[in-house]
This record gives sequence, C-alpha cells and structure tokens, in this order.
Amino acid sequence: MAKILIKNIKSLLQVGEDFPAYVAGSAMKTVPAIDDAFLALEDGVIVAYGPMSEWGGITDWRDLEIIDAEGCFVFPAFCDAHTHTVFAASREEEFVDRINGLSYEEIALKGGGILNSAGKLAGMSEDQLFEEALVRIQRMKTYGTGALEIKSGYGLSVDAELKMLRVIKRLKTEAGIVIKATFLGAHAFPKAYKEDHEAYIKLIVDEMLPKIAEENLADYIDVFCERNYFSVEEMTRILQAGKAHGLTPKVHVNQFSILGGVKAAVECGALSVDHLEECDEADIAALKDSGCMPTLLPGCSHFLSIPFGNARGMMDAGLPVALASDFNPGSTPCDNLGMIFSLGCVKMKMTPEEALNALTINAAYAMGLSNTHGTISLGKTTPVILTKKIPSLAYIPYAFGDVHVDRLIGGN
Ligand code: NIG
Ligand code: FE
Repeated sequence: MAKILIKNIKSLLQVGEDFPAYVAGSAMKTVPAIDDAFLALEDGVIVAYGPMSEWGGITDWRDLEIIDAEGCFVFPAFCDAHTHTVFAASREEEFVDRINGLSYEEIALKGGGILNSAGKLAGMSEDQLFEEALVRIQRMKTYGTGALEIKSGYGLSVDAELKMLRVIKRLKTEAGIVIKATFLGAHAFPKAYKEDHEAYIKLIVDEMLPKIAEENLADYIDVFCERNYFSVEEMTRILQAGKAHGLTPKVHVNQFSILGGVKAAVECGALSVDHLEECDEADIAALKDSGCMPTLLPGCSHFLSIPFGNARGMMDAGLPVALASDFNPGSTPCDNLGMIFSLGCVKMKMTPEEALNALTINAAYAMGLSNTHGTISLGKTTPVILTKKIPSLAYIPYAFGDVHVDRLIGGN
C-alpha cells in the first residue's frame, strides 16, 4: 500500500466534508482552508487531514512516504472540463493571418479553422495521435491538471471520429489521469456537406452514434452551436439523438453570437454550456438554478481577441462559473491552467478564491466528477497540487506566466 503523509502544509485549501455539488454566486468568494495542516493519502485515497496540532492518527509508519510542505499550499488538482487535446498539427499560420487582420470566422470561411485540422487528422495514424496527446497530457500534469475532458471533432467522418474517440479511450487507460470523452462530430460541416446539412446530421445520428454507443467510446455529446456551424434546431436534434444513446450534452454555445442555444441546451439537460463570450439576460435567466454549469474559456478570448465571458455578471446573478482551457490548435493553443487562473482574475475580475472554485469544485461538476475530484474530502481520489513555496493563494494568478505547481501527488 502506498501511503503518503504531507506535513507542515502552510495552508490546505478546498478541504472539508459535506460540500455541495458546486458553489454559486457569493458562495464562490470562499474557499475552506486549514492553516498549518497535514494530509494523508493511502493508495491515492484521501484518508485523513487536519491541523498539525491534531496529527496523531498515524500508527503504522511502515512504507510511509513523508513530504514536508513547509511554506507550500496544497489543494485539489485542477479539472480541465473542456479540451480538444487530440489533434494532428498546430495552426500558427492562422495565428499570423489573424495578426494580419483576418478574423477567426474569415479564416474558417476560406477553409482554415476546424476543417484545416480535420484534413490533417485524416492522414494521421491512431498510434501517432495517441503518442502526441500523451506528451501533451504529461505536460498538463506539470501545470496541475488532475482530470480532463477531451473532445473528438477533428474527424468529421465516421472513420476519423471513431479514430479520435478510440485514441481518447486508450488515453483513459494509459495516461494515468481521469479522462472523460466527448463526441463532437457536430463541430463543423465538412465541405462535402456544406449545402446538405441533413445528410451530415444523418451520418452523425444513424452511423456515428450507434457505433460510438456499441464501443462505449463517449461519455458526453457536444455540438458547436454558432452561425455558419450548427443552428439551435440542428443542435437540439443531435443532442436528443445523443441522449438516446446515453450521452449527456455539454455544448459549445455563444462564442461569437447569441442564437438561443443556451436555453435550448439547458432544456436538453446539458451538464455544461461552454464559451459564453456573448451572453444576455435571457441566457442568465435560463441558467439560473438549472444545474447546468456555465464554463468560461478565457484562453480562447485572449488568443482570438474576442470578449471575455461575463463571470462577474453571472456570479452576481447567483450563477456558478467554471473555468477551463479549451486547449486546441486553433483558438487556444495553451493548456496551462495556471495561466487560465490568471486570465480569470485579471480579465474577468474573479477573485483568486472565485477562480480556484471555478477550476476545482465547479470544474469537477462540469465533467461529472463531483464524487471524486474538486475538493479534499475523505474518500476522494483526486490528486492534490503541492505548490512551490509561495506567500499566498493570490500569488498564483498574480505572478502570471510562471508555474507555481511543484507537482501533483496522489490520484488513482
Ligand atoms: O472551442 N469553437 C469551436 N471549437 C474550438 C475551436 C476549434 C478550432 O479552431 O480548431 C473552440 O474554440
Ligand atoms: Fe472548444
């Protein structure tokens, strides 16, 4: 049995029992903490914690690894509830096009964007996609990511979507981190179906979904609901078909325009609605007490120079907020959640405590991991982040661009 004791922790954060499934509104301002604390893990399970003054429960010292965390913080690993970690190639040529004045939408309309990635992925083997994604995931762990969601959506054909999902399935067993798989066949209409949306939707519903269900390749279903992509009505039909195969909706909505997709997704029982760079009063009303997590992606806003999600307005209206990376080669080539933490604080006016809640308990909820991740509670199996020696929690988003994570500990 691997037993680990972390002692002399400067402050143990997001710790306790009886947490709600997520925190919303003004409750996001608080993070429960124990100063000068210890934490014990056994085979990756959290078995004890408390102030150092109460440390006395360890009776069996055999094979016990002791870590001295003096001057360091410990808190649950970040959960990255929205990523596109499996892809074939970077797209920095589009980045340069944008510097020279083209918009993301203009680049997509001339054949770049998602279709560019799909073209490159078609020719890459399952093994190579797997190996490259594995390297990315190992890097994410060094930034404190302890669970992640990965989407398909650069396949856009039956074979290539299945190939992506099989890679994700393999990563689930071999990457040493909890992963959730999301089917995003409805990421864009392939060129051949530009004028025949019905035929592509039929391919998704009649061919992709049954095979995905048969091989148990996905947990969630996603649709990119946006002008020039999928309409609200098309999204609704695809989500309903996914639900019939046991997949819960988690969707891309309101990145560039408000089409009514938030309300429709909530009505479909979506676990999360992601992006929301654009968001109006009706969207906020639809989300209120819905159990659907608004998941904001400040890395995308930063990189595409589009508005940042209105986290402040959402929290002031009593909503919960989660933050995620949206790591992908087109709109967000950054998988460092420490950077997302900082962008949430600097650009969205979230306090460090609000951002930490958004990256832990609320992000765990947004990927169906409330029972295991997001908080330090007895019996949970989340890895924990051991920080370097830092003066405060606020120092993490303050000293942006640096990595304040020493390492992840535990997890199973
Ligand atoms: O979440 N908006 C849709 N999908 C991705 C971008 C995909 C791409 O450009 O490759 C996103 O930003
Ligand atoms: Fe995305």
